[in-house]
Amino acid sequence: MKKAIISYLFVLCAGVAQATVEGLKYPYSLPKLDYSYRALSPSIDARTMKIHLTKHHQGYVNNLNKALESHPELHGLSLEELLRTVNRHPKPLRNALKNNGGGHYNHTLFWNMMSPHQTAPSGNLLAALEATFGSLDAFKKQFNQAAVSVFGSGWAWLCIDDKGTLVILPTNNQDSPITEGLIPLLGLDVWEHAYYLKYQNKRPEYIDAWWKVVNWPYVQKRFERFSTPQSRLSE
Ligand SMILES: [Fe+2]
Repeated sequence: MKKAIISYLFVLCAGVAQATVEGLKYPYSLPKLDYSYRALSPSIDARTMKIHLTKHHQGYVNNLNKALESHPELHGLSLEELLRTVNRHPKPLRNALKNNGGGHYNHTLFWNMMSPHQTAPSGNLLAALEATFGSLDAFKKQFNQAAVSVFGSGWAWLCIDDKGTLVILPTNNQDSPITEGLIPLLGLDVWEHAYYLKYQNKRPEYIDAWWKVVNWPYVQKRFERFSTPQSRLSE
């Protein structure tokens, strides 16, 4: 009983509000998880979660703020706007925005895309996945291939393009699909910092375990929000 109460308080202390990724602006800060560090175990262990959030993600936030400090003209833009227009900036700033802006955006999404509650895709999202990829299993197989194929550090994504089509793609480093004009619905961090403590070099095992903690209701919410042309334009 005592253990259950402590666990409950721990969850409360970890924060209860799901972090919003749309419209984030300078100065940036680390989002609060709506679950505890150990909530995704055994798929992802507590130590990895804590280091991933408080060291790696915090590093992107700090460096993004530092890069933008001397650019007040960019403070009014949202993070999505910065990432969408990233290639228009001089190279040093461009790289800082790509790496750290992408890092902050991708990770904020990533925490939301996972949940300690077992969920499954359903409704119009499931129908779209089946229509596009043939079946849910075929979708997962293609997504896994994208995740395994990333050489070095990067991400695998399920996105929606400007025509409303679902696409799977890998990205390198912290490059964000937003920069490519895509809207990410689901993303998997395959940087070694995301899994090495528990899985070492066995990335495929991490990928298999990660499917058990995907927050499908959140993916569904994004799909519904961005599956009409008007919603994608307003994003
Ligand atoms: Fe990461």
